[in-house]
Amino acid sequence: MSLTLRYMQHADIRQVATIDVMCFDPPWSYESYAFEIKESRVSHMVVLEEVIGAAQPAPVQRQSWFDRLRGRGRNGAATLDGTGLILGYGGLWKIEDEAHISTIAIDPAWRGKGYGEILLAGMFGKALQLNAEFIVLEVRVSNAIAQSLYRKYGFSRVRRRKNYYRSDNEDAWDMRVSLDRDTRLRFERLYQKLRLQHGFLDSYSRKSRPRG
Ligand SMILES: CC(C)(COP(=O)(O)OP(=O)(O)OC[C@H]1O[C@@H](n2cnc3c(N)ncnc32)[C@H](O)[C@@H]1OP(=O)(O)O)[C@@H](O)C(=O)NCCC(=O)NCCS
Repeated sequence: MSLTLRYMQHADIRQVATIDVMCFDPPWSYESYAFEIKESRVSHMVVLEEVIGAAQPAPVQRQSWFDRLRGRGRNGAATLDGTGLILGYGGLWKIEDEAHISTIAIDPAWRGKGYGEILLAGMFGKALQLNAEFIVLEVRVSNAIAQSLYRKYGFSRVRRRKNYYRSDNEDAWDMRVSLDRDTRLRFERLYQKLRLQHGFLDSYSRKSRPRG
């Protein structure tokens, strides 16, 4: 398995949008992704990619090339159409002293393997590289899994927003972490542990956003 965190590119949008519709209601439009990648001055979109060429078992059942060509795996996962298989993606906006996690998702077929944590750690590292003082996000009050992940990285609930999600009026928690010395030290420990565990390449969190 060869995993890479890297900046999202235009060619990734089809795979990313396929995951997005399985995770969010409503999903972002194709144009929203294109805007975030090309136009926005504050956005840092990331993908976690499994690179072709490495031996790569599918998570539940091995995929045949026929399944891949059809665009879906036997287990329902989105499959290859470019250089690699995108397992998940995320987005971070840097505005003044705050970094805001705008989105994060792992393909349902690949969850529970530490990949969501890799994405969050990548965005955490990016926030540090951009000299943010806080990271903020909103999360559904019912989303215990995501909240558990965020707590692991020091986020805490700061405010409940009534009826925040328009699709079903569910409330959101605003969560926030201050990037103080203790939080940074804890992050470095978690990040190094993740690198040892998964051996992923990170060409996102410590590099600048590509031009154009
Ligand atoms: C949230 C999400 C990104 C987590 O990704 P994942 O790859 O499944 O999570 P990981 O395997 O990396 O687990 C990281 C942490 O998440 C939490 N977690 C993961 N699965 C969990 C489960 N079944 N029950 C409780 N906590 C869980 C744990 O804190 C875990 O840390 P640990 O392994 O030290 O216990 C994923 O569930 C997802 O895409 N959900 C749909 C989209 C979404 O809700 N995004 C958040 C919007 S705010």
